[in-house]
Amino acid sequence: MNLKGRHLIDPNDFTLEELDEVFKLADKMIKDRNAYSKICQGRILGTCFYEPSTRTRLSFESAMLRMGGSILGFSDAATSSVSKGESIADTIRVLGSYADVLVMRHPKEGAPKLASEFSTAPVINGGDGGHQHPTQTLTDLLTINQLKGKIEGHTVAFCGDLKFGRTVHSLISTLSRYAKSKFILISPIELKLPESLKVNLKRKYDIEIVETEDLEKHMAEIDILYMTRIQKERFFNEADYTRLKDSYILNRNKLKDAKPDMMIMHPLPRVNEIGYDVDGDPRAVYFKQAEYGIYARMALMALLLGVDVDVEGR
Ligand code: NCD
Repeated sequence: MNLKGRHLIDPNDFTLEELDEVFKLADKMIKDRNAYSKICQGRILGTCFYEPSTRTRLSFESAMLRMGGSILGFSDAATSSVSKGESIADTIRVLGSYADVLVMRHPKEGAPKLASEFSTAPVINGGDGGHQHPTQTLTDLLTINQLKGKIEGHTVAFCGDLKFGRTVHSLISTLSRYAKSKFILISPIELKLPESLKVNLKRKYDIEIVETEDLEKHMAEIDILYMTRIQKERFFNEADYTRLKDSYILNRNKLKDAKPDMMIMHPLPRVNEIGYDVDGDPRAVYFKQAEYGIYARMALMALLLGVDVDVEGR
């Protein structure tokens, strides 16, 4: 098993064993972060963000800095030569020689895949349109593993924008590969999980899917409630967004039937979908989840760069 030099475009690019390797290393980093503070000395992360980001870009930067490496890149396509009309291929060809590993976020689905075909350095997809967000999935699975002790066998409810939410697409596809996953999909009719994705997952894996528009209906059976933001930027008109934006607002009252150890997750940013009164509930783990994002990305980059870390022992 060797992740050195590999790209991460879709979470399916890694086998479950390879994902496990990332989580094992991340676990060690969580337990003793200082032991890893120099492993990327002399290495450079290049960030190519063609779309807004707070957590993804900054957690990648923080992860590289915490391992002793350096960063360069752009957070706004308008400040790079993209605004002069440069193609992704040309930008990446050059950046791939300026940095040792690249992370790219782009509004167009497939852009990071295209970039990976032109880059000599590993390319990590930091989110492509409404398609995939594999490092959010690493973050989410690491959070589940750390806080629930295992990844398989949970009843996971996804709530909100399941049509455009790339974090949902990546996470449900990956969780389906683990044994005994059951999913409850909560969304307005217009924002249901794409039919093709659902059919494909059901055909390939032994999973159970229940669909509903009602947030509270199945509350008592949920182990993990994954709330998501309605993806304003993917709507074709403002009126549809305005009509759907407050479809679900989780508050303390709606949690009355929830299990005492149910976990409430959210990739963030939150807009209105979780009331501030939920933040103090011990089941709300979304800020912890954001913190685990650093460790998931540290472990991922260390393995893609092939730095000398002992995943098994130490
Ligand atoms: C998500 C994204 O960009 O898809 N944010 C993130 O990376 N944590 C979720 C979102 O924007 O709703």
